Amino acid sequence: MSDDLYAVIGHPISHSKSPRIHSLFAAQTGEPVEYTAIQAPLDDFEGTVQRFFERGGKGLNVTVPFKEQAWKLADQLTPAAESAGAVNTLFRDADGKLWGENTDGTGLVRDLTVNHDVTINGRRVLVLGAGGAVRGILAPLLAAQPAEVVIANRTASKAEALAAGFDAGIPVTGCGFADVHGVFALIINGTSASLQGDLPPLDPAIVDPATVGYDMMYGAEVTPFNGWVLDQSAARAIDGLGMLVEQAAESFYCWRGVRPQTATVMAALRDGTSDT
Ligand code: ATR
Repeated sequence: MSDDLYAVIGHPISHSKSPRIHSLFAAQTGEPVEYTAIQAPLDDFEGTVQRFFERGGKGLNVTVPFKEQAWKLADQLTPAAESAGAVNTLFRDADGKLWGENTDGTGLVRDLTVNHDVTINGRRVLVLGAGGAVRGILAPLLAAQPAEVVIANRTASKAEALAAGFDAGIPVTGCGFADVHGVFALIINGTSASLQGDLPPLDPAIVDPATVGYDMMYGAEVTPFNGWVLDQSAARAIDGLGMLVEQAAESFYCWRGVRPQTATVMAALRDGTSDT
């Protein structure tokens, strides 16, 4: 019997680590999973998804720039996908209904709390950025019961609008970078500034030695944001590789009902032994 077929779909896609991560999960769990990468034409995401499922595909991960289109395409959304406004995981149920899930926020929270033993419950959390990446993590972050979440963005009005959409019984406010005050236990960088080697202008007083910095980006080098956090006396700065592996594990669990171990997969990726 042939393996069940899964894929990541994006544009471009050749850089994606997902095929490697899911192959490692399949080998580790013994699940009969074959996982490939599909580059969809920019103007035919929907057709590409339909053809994949028509030829028997079981599930897709969706990445840039199609997460919002996947949200619109899904017949049914999970609560996490609903509030994220974006879908990174698609699958069909027994009735043929297309489900959209978003595992990014759960992946982030698991990386923080399980892998790095960071306490969110009762703590002040600062989130930098107000784009799609940040929108995707807010509901799972609030579910971890922080004392307060401040969303700061270059364009303050976007942070204010995003903050206004959440009513979880936990104070969530939006502002510009210049209006961020007080010390935070956790600062999550969800801007794309690191991609340009850039750093949001932040007041050093928001960091103390107990502050944990988390950059949702990752790379071979320490990101500009994590370098800045460490320079301000913070003990820890974590990059987003763990979030990548954890969101993949959540997708795998969603499709297969089996939760893979992530530590060995993360170690393999850090070694570079798994880059293809
Ligand atoms: P993504 O899907 O990665 O979130 P996005 O929706 O385009 O991408 O959002 C990018 C985020 O990074 C935004 O919050 C953006 O700030 P603006 O809303 O003011 O545009 C932020 N960003 C991008 N480049 C930045 C930079 N050089 N400094 C600070 N913030 C930056």
